[in-house]
Amino acid sequence: MQIVRTIAQTREAVAHARARAESVGLVPTMGALHEGHRSLVRTARQRCGYVAVSIFVNPTQFGPEEDLEAYPRTFEADRSACQADGADLIFAPAVKEMYPGPGLTTVHVADLTAGLCGASRPVHFDGVTTVVAKLFNIVGPDVAFFGEKDYQQLAVIRRMVLDLDMPVEVIGCPTIREPDGLALSSRNEYLDVDQRRQAPVLHAAMQRAAQAALAGRRNVAELIAGIEGDIRESGPAEIDYVKIVDAETLDELPEIDRPARICLAVKMGKCRLIDNLAVDAPQSDR
Ligand code: PAJ
Repeated sequence: MQIVRTIAQTREAVAHARARAESVGLVPTMGALHEGHRSLVRTARQRCGYVAVSIFVNPTQFGPEEDLEAYPRTFEADRSACQADGADLIFAPAVKEMYPGPGLTTVHVADLTAGLCGASRPVHFDGVTTVVAKLFNIVGPDVAFFGEKDYQQLAVIRRMVLDLDMPVEVIGCPTIREPDGLALSSRNEYLDVDQRRQAPVLHAAMQRAAQAALAGRRNVAELIAGIEGDIRESGPAEIDYVKIVDAETLDELPEIDRPARICLAVKMGKCRLIDNLAVDAPQSDR
């Protein structure tokens, strides 16, 4: 496995793989790799001849009040994990390599970024789409792997690729969870013992709503009230949003009459947790 810090070295390494007619897979990350990230690397390993992992804590997707400085940086452990999972290359650039000067160009995906996390994190998705577009241009992958954990991010990137004719296949991979249902996230470290005990309520509440929908309760306002009630009963938590949206357009739905997604963001202490779950109407309705 090669570790490279520059764009030029990355292009050169990938060109060699291409010359061997290998398909190139890219797993973009910000490091602090856990089993969620690692499942993406392993999936890439199965699907592609050559696997590149990028590790870059991208400053442009953090708001001024967010945790850029405190974001965990664990390069040695990340390196071992990538090696164990069979990556061929880690691209770990310095900020200056990615942003040598103030960039004047931003990739902005409209509408899909307006709601959910975009409502409280106004600059976030422009930072994500711009850096992912740059990573696609640097690595030139055939296939790129993203987690469903960040469902809105996945939808936004799919749309960017579609609208800008980027020659990349985007694969969404399932959310990896702790045994008690909490979705793995590098930010889970910020939870104290009580919050960690409380946090699985998010997945449990969404599951209850998804089961209720399958049993025929399709009214979204009622389902959301159920989820919010479960969360409030579990202890102190600040609900940023709980929404049920069209699985593709992310438009809010009045009722579950098509493939939909429950999406939520909840603050427990200083930790903002996001999660989502598929929800469908009963089979007999379709
Ligand atoms: P990061 O938060 O490091 O996540 C990297 C990838 O891992 C994302 O595609 C994310 O959805 C996926 N992931 C995180 N937790 C997961 C889990 N529990 N199960 C499955 N997949 C999970 O997302 C980013 O970085 C950045 O925004 C990035 C796309 C790299 C652009 O900077």
